[in-house]
Amino acid sequence: RLLLLAILLDGCNVTGYTAFSLMDSLEWPAGFSEKFGLHFVDFEDPERPRTPKASSRFFRQLIRDNGFLHNCAPDCDTGDVACDSYHKMSEDVMLLVDMEVSRITYQFTRAYILVDRYRFSISWPRILPAGTGDINQAGIDYYNDLIDALIAEGIEPMVTLYHWDLPQALEDRGGWLSPESHDWFVEYARVCFEAFGDRAKLWITFNEPWVVAWMGYGTGGGAPGHSDAPGEKTYQAGRNILLAHAKTYRMYQEEFFASQGGRVGITLNTNYHGPLNPADPEDVAAAARQMEFDLGWFADPVYFGNYPQTMIDKIGEKSEAQGYPESRLPAFTAEEQEMLAGSSDFFGLNTYTSSYANNLVHDSECVSYACDSDTQISSDPSWYGTGSDWLKLYPQGMRKLLNYIKDRYGNPEVIITENGSSDRAGNLDDALRIYQLKHYINNILKGSFTPSVPVLLDGCNVTGYTAWSLMDNLEWSSGFSQKFGLHFVDFEDPERPRTPKASSRFFRQLIRDNGFIE
Ligand code: NOJ
Repeated sequence: RLLLLAILLDGCNVTGYTAFSLMDSLEWPAGFSEKFGLHFVDFEDPERPRTPKASSRFFRQLIRDNGFLHNCAPDCDTGDVACDSYHKMSEDVMLLVDMEVSRITYQFTRAYILVDRYRFSISWPRILPAGTGDINQAGIDYYNDLIDALIAEGIEPMVTLYHWDLPQALEDRGGWLSPESHDWFVEYARVCFEAFGDRAKLWITFNEPWVVAWMGYGTGGGAPGHSDAPGEKTYQAGRNILLAHAKTYRMYQEEFFASQGGRVGITLNTNYHGPLNPADPEDVAAAARQMEFDLGWFADPVYFGNYPQTMIDKIGEKSEAQGYPESRLPAFTAEEQEMLAGSSDFFGLNTYTSSYANNLVHDSECVSYACDSDTQISSDPSWYGTGSDWLKLYPQGMRKLLNYIKDRYGNPEVIITENGSSDRAGNLDDALRIYQLKHYINNILKGSFTPSVPVLLDGCNVTGYTAWSLMDNLEWSSGFSQKFGLHFVDFEDPERPRTPKASSRFFRQLIRDNGFIE
């Protein structure tokens, strides 16, 4: 590799590298307080063996690969096994039973947003390994067993069709950039409705299309990892996903609704964006714009049939200035707009954090999503940080966001499909997650419609809340390093059962009390 790359390199004569240090050790005057080791040493308990840290496994992988083979998650984690719910399905259902999820009764109004549901996704390649065509019966059997086990325990399945695992065969054919992608997805969705729709009545077509379009085809930080600074691919992928969603929605109405009577929606994600300086009209406008670029990009077509006018204008003007023959935001035909408008039976919402927005001043050369919207976002230093640098806890943002959706989209039924908090240590005593759940749920209750106390509340039509996540899992390109679970998963020792964290007991108590008992 070095020979091949000789021209690209600087020619310094480096012949070796030893990391400091194999293990934690005495750091001179600082004592044992500063730890440099790739292996943990317990200076309190000399009997305890040295323990490899993630960096030690990373280093071993570097040796095995003899260099960097490809970009991979920390520690080169993959989803090949991950939580192994494929083999531990019964154990997972028992976690829900132990949390008493099925006891949720709806009898009292205060906490009716907690639902007796389990939200999971179907893996497209597990059902159709080539993306289209032959069905893998073992995949169908697995989800049948899961759905039956949930129903037997009084838990309603809530099924996501696409949580980002595109079959490789379809990626090879252009993935979400292909105009055929809508039809691939409709075929897959039809197989799922046929196989599971007699029992599964609540369907989500896509999870967070913004992430797929922007991170999968813009920054390259998410699957399938294409980067494209000008954002042509980003908007193309977004458009194809929206059309795949709408076609699937219409297909369900025509072919399945009469016999199955289920509901089909989409899950969108956004931060709540407020102005950095509420007294500055430019910041107020920047916050409104950022909401339109993040949420409106997908929600406006689904509710109104077309993109927000701000997006159309901004991207159109910039594309022209950059010399593109037409806007980088590809338009919908009149027929497509009609198909899109009103194509969701509920508003699935994933939200975690908030941000401030202000006007971004940049030169005409600047090409990025932020330059398309002319906004810059930041967070407040007083918000608690978590294990994910993008996630700072601001519970009131939840209530503000619900009110935004109520006002802009005509108070649709909102199901909060994801909300949670992460840490890195994986402590069983996860006080910050309890803080997050308690205060975000409290803000949902304040924002909700509750007939007995209408004056105090905002009247947003929230009918469901599912916490992210039942257990620690693969956090995409961050591997297993960021943990969102109410249950701990030991990824090193697959024999060890999932362990409830304090947050899981807190959640069960919330269910038992049917809300917060003052
Ligand atoms: C949204 C995604 O749907 C989920 O897969 C991810 O783990 C959480 N956000 C946390 O980042």
